Amino acid sequence: MGVTTQQLSRFKRDGRPIVVLTAWDFLMAQVLDRAGVDVILVGDSLAMVALGHETTLPLTLEDMLHHTKAVRRGVKNALVVCDLPFMTYQESVAQAMHSAGRVLKETGAQAVKLEGGHPAMLETVERLTQAGIPVMAHVGLTPQSVHQFGGFRKQGTTAEAAERILQEAIALESAGAFSIVLEHIPADLGLQISQKLTIPTIGIGAGPHCDGQVLVTPDLLGLSEWQPPFAKPYTNLRDIITQAVQTYAAEVREQRFGDSPNA
Ligand code: KIV
Repeated sequence: MGVTTQQLSRFKRDGRPIVVLTAWDFLMAQVLDRAGVDVILVGDSLAMVALGHETTLPLTLEDMLHHTKAVRRGVKNALVVCDLPFMTYQESVAQAMHSAGRVLKETGAQAVKLEGGHPAMLETVERLTQAGIPVMAHVGLTPQSVHQFGGFRKQGTTAEAAERILQEAIALESAGAFSIVLEHIPADLGLQISQKLTIPTIGIGAGPHCDGQVLVTPDLLGLSEWQPPFAKPYTNLRDIITQAVQTYAAEVREQRFGDSPNA
């Protein structure tokens, strides 16, 4: 058995930060897993970053099943978590059970992630957990609510909004979530929630004090043309790939292209 949800709780108790990254295909999942990432999230950022949509809303459950199966084939050790896409769990508990059940049965992912902490979602988290489906919660900037927020805006910036997010996080822990993503909220709120909860918090744009951090992998690699303000590139793969492609193109066009030295 690789990384488990129980192990992530132990990591928090032991003060060992949790490393989370996104992947949507076999190759990237294999690289991240072999590099020692703890959790691989098949995030619905897939819709925007890899499929070119303006929001995450168009993604279907079939899309997520397809990509999660590919990721799972590349992973030996990390915990694989699959995002439930927009309107595959919000309609009713029964719909959420059906969608999450398909994810675990058909892909081999060990957990699902869903967005929001309002009362109906708490019931959903409770019922999924009771059915043996581990749930990663997600509060703060929840991109599936982009139209309600009026854009991909920072959340929890007023005392009232911060208190609401804190209460949602506490309620999601009580409902049974094994972990919670905190997205694009002030760092002091990230710290406050991380101190209050016993389950691990995973931050993205939520300051350095969360129990773990998640980045969208193409942002870490400097591959995306546009990056959110909290993204932190560790290299510039877009430039590196462009240079490699231009070198190859020049060799082909100038008839200098020879066989690989390994051929
Ligand atoms: O879809 C995604 O990649 C996510 C992360 C940003 C947490 O939900």
